[in-house]
Amino acid sequence: MKEIIDLGMHGKSLLRLCDIEDWQMLGLINAAIALKARKKAGLHLQNPLIKGKNIALVFQKSSTRTRCATANAVSDEGGHPEYLGKTDSHFGKKESVKDSARVLGRLFDGILFRGYAQQTVEDLATYSGIPVWNGLTDQWHPTQALADLQTVQEHFGTLKGLTLAFVGDGRNNVCNSLMMSCAKAGINMIDICPPELSPEPQLVEACQKIAKANGSEVRVSHDPEGGVKDVNILYTDVWVSMGEEDLFEQRIKLLSPFQIDMAMCERTGNLKNGRLMFLHCLPSFHDNNTEVSREIGAMEVTDEVFEAPFSKVFDEAENRLHTIKAMILASLL
Ligand code: CP
Ligand code: NVA
Repeated sequence: MKEIIDLGMHGKSLLRLCDIEDWQMLGLINAAIALKARKKAGLHLQNPLIKGKNIALVFQKSSTRTRCATANAVSDEGGHPEYLGKTDSHFGKKESVKDSARVLGRLFDGILFRGYAQQTVEDLATYSGIPVWNGLTDQWHPTQALADLQTVQEHFGTLKGLTLAFVGDGRNNVCNSLMMSCAKAGINMIDICPPELSPEPQLVEACQKIAKANGSEVRVSHDPEGGVKDVNILYTDVWVSMGEEDLFEQRIKLLSPFQIDMAMCERTGNLKNGRLMFLHCLPSFHDNNTEVSREIGAMEVTDEVFEAPFSKVFDEAENRLHTIKAMILASLL
């Protein structure tokens, strides 16, 4: 197992996917697939890999998947996860990020952080002196993209040459990391969004360069009708991210034509031939599944698509554990 995890990342943080080489990202995905098989066979119990290591989970925002995936990834391998939620510590409030980072660096072997500004996670890594992993900021969600690509690899048996469309808020953290990860993996990526929610041009240019080197394309489209033709993976996320809750009304107006429904799936041309997959990082507002969507109605995806056999959102959620584990082991072993 250690050879698979040896990806030149020992002692390093993972704050953005653009900071690692393409082969390192693909190596993390392969390692996650191997770790998944190892866990299913119960082999992790015989030889836990990070016995005695203490990992802090510092969360300024809510989480189900990232928190539980990290806690269980650490415990699976004999380590101890310590959760510090937004009201549990002095982090960034009574104590500066710089001071908290130096304290946590003395007490822990690694930190998984979820919060707002990317600068906070960068500062945490600089001042703690231990590996820090980005569990979501306003700008990036790298561990999500790793799990997304693991799910695609498992389903299609390949990454290169497939076409993925992110449909929705085309400048959010999930979309940014997905664009970067697709470029690195040689997946064609179309960011389908209203003009007002377009990604940063510098990010698109950087991803286009990386994609070109890997034989694929990255582009932005504002056409939810024709834009999805030939797409293999339809991907969406909530229309309003954490911290933007006052924007619901505005986003619903902008994004209603971008809802993923069965008609959109049909327009890919890949629904009938089994070459279509639906992914969503979750949590999701589909039909009447939450208090918010009972009030507002379905947003980014209909129930029909969310519950369809080609929707692999729960495989994707499970893979958060295996990819986060791969990343932690790559830094600590
Ligand atoms: N996808 C994701 O990051 O989910 P959580 O917010 O539940 O961690
Ligand atoms: N874009 C979403 C992702 C949640 C996992 C958010 O930031 O809230």
